[in-house]
Amino acid sequence: MRLLPGTLCLCLALALSQAAPSGHGAHKPQGHDHEHHGAVHERCEGIEFDAVAVNEEGIPYFFKGDHLWKGFHGNSELSNKTFKELDDHHHLGHVDAAFRMHSKDNQHDHDHIFFFLNDHVFSFYNHSLEKGYPKKIEDVFPGIPHNLDAAVECPKGECVQDSVIFIRGDEAYHYDIKDKKVDESKWAHLPNCTSAFRWLEHYYCFHGNTFTKFHPVTGTVTGKYPKDARDYFMRCHKFGKDSNHTERETCSRVHLDAVTSDDAGNVYAFRGHHYLEQKAGSDTWEAHPIEKTWKKLHSEVDAVFSYNNHLYMIKDDNIYVYSVGDTHKLLDGYPKPVSKELGIKGHVDAAFVCADHHIAHIIQGQKMYDVDLAANPRAVKNEVPLHFKKVDAGTCGPEGVKIMVGSHYYQYESLKVMAASKILPEAHKISLELFGCDH
Ligand SMILES: *[C@@H]1O[C@H](CO)[C@@H](O)[C@H](O)[C@H]1NC(C)=O
Ligand SMILES: *[C@@H]1O[C@H](CO)[C@@H](O)[C@H](O)[C@H]1NC(C)=O
Ligand SMILES: *[C@@H]1O[C@H](CO)[C@@H](O)[C@H](O)[C@H]1NC(C)=O
Ligand SMILES: *[C@@H]1O[C@H](CO)[C@@H](O)[C@H](O)[C@H]1NC(C)=O
Repeated sequence: MRLLPGTLCLCLALALSQAAPSGHGAHKPQGHDHEHHGAVHERCEGIEFDAVAVNEEGIPYFFKGDHLWKGFHGNSELSNKTFKELDDHHHLGHVDAAFRMHSKDNQHDHDHIFFFLNDHVFSFYNHSLEKGYPKKIEDVFPGIPHNLDAAVECPKGECVQDSVIFIRGDEAYHYDIKDKKVDESKWAHLPNCTSAFRWLEHYYCFHGNTFTKFHPVTGTVTGKYPKDARDYFMRCHKFGKDSNHTERETCSRVHLDAVTSDDAGNVYAFRGHHYLEQKAGSDTWEAHPIEKTWKKLHSEVDAVFSYNNHLYMIKDDNIYVYSVGDTHKLLDGYPKPVSKELGIKGHVDAAFVCADHHIAHIIQGQKMYDVDLAANPRAVKNEVPLHFKKVDAGTCGPEGVKIMVGSHYYQYESLKVMAASKILPEAHKISLELFGCDH
């Protein structure tokens, strides 16, 4: 069964890539503003969610009123666009709680998304309401109260058995999916959650515009909480005065725009208006505004690669070439159109050069193009198909090739190995394994 984890990874990666259209998506008009009715919320302004749940493909959905956000950035849309039948029954306007069922022992309900409203529960699979639903909560989850505040799945290994944690006020109910047994505990030390969420095997209680990480079995909180949800789970441009840029950027679960290391071994990772830098020989990261170091570039880069002591930075249709040194100087004549400089047309998702080579590997959608930087004029000389539906960033170094997709990266020994591989390698967490954020 070695194949299975790989297959699951592939699904997740594909799902995440859909969840997180990269920087360029943010510039484009989203095209469904006319569909907004009633209160439209801007999540970067700091709102309290009614419910958070991942869908069957691993895409996180954030619910507020009759709207939902898919993924960690982008605009909201009406919930009934995705979950049509929510309206047929009650004209809900909101949900109390939601979670995605995880139970390998119960194939029927596995991966179903459950919604709770007052005394009813709705079960959706593949975005359709399951026959016979909505049902009374007690008929599906005996012992669980009405008017829930939050619900989150807790698979065996993280909880003692495959369970669901239901929260109302300061009471937590561990519901054993197989035995239908309920363990009730008072979690008075936790803030009262309005939604709860499992992400990368961690458990988060959301309250107001903040969140607190808790232990799924004991509810114990370790570390400094609450923290602002916008710092970790949303892609926002403005942050509060108290936001610690370094902590936020190392811990954020939002996709990166670009990653590269220069010839001296300094590493740079870009996201939105900021970049993280790890100086050669150091193991700590520090965040700065992009504008401070690369004034013309300002923010929201699409791809960055390092070649011959220069950083090649791509944003929209233009490429900016900066010398590397104590200060970064934009070369005369730049920015230039990417099409003129590299012979590549269209949006660039990611780009990298492997050390001592002069080939730029340019990723666009599911293809990687090789451009010989020593040739004149430069043009695409080779094309490789990729497993990934959408890549956010890529880099190549002594450890091989790293491809970043959403909250994860995938590592290959070499380009050759990457081109030959049929299944995805293990997914690594960017925040933990690249940036050392353990919470
Ligand atoms: C979806 O919800 C909106 C606002 O709540 C409502 O105006 C609209 O009629 C609903 N659409 C459907 C198809 O039910
Ligand atoms: C999900 O629904 C779509 C149509 O609504 C259908 O084409 C697809 O096969 C369904 N997938 C599963 C896994 O049931
Ligand atoms: C949390 O919920 C409990 C009821 O379970 C309530 O007594 C308490 O006042 C709530 N705390 C806050 C801060 O709202
Ligand atoms: C910001 O966060 C970093 C990393 O967690 C930490 O080392 C640093 O001391 C923090 N700075 C402040 C001002 O709290």
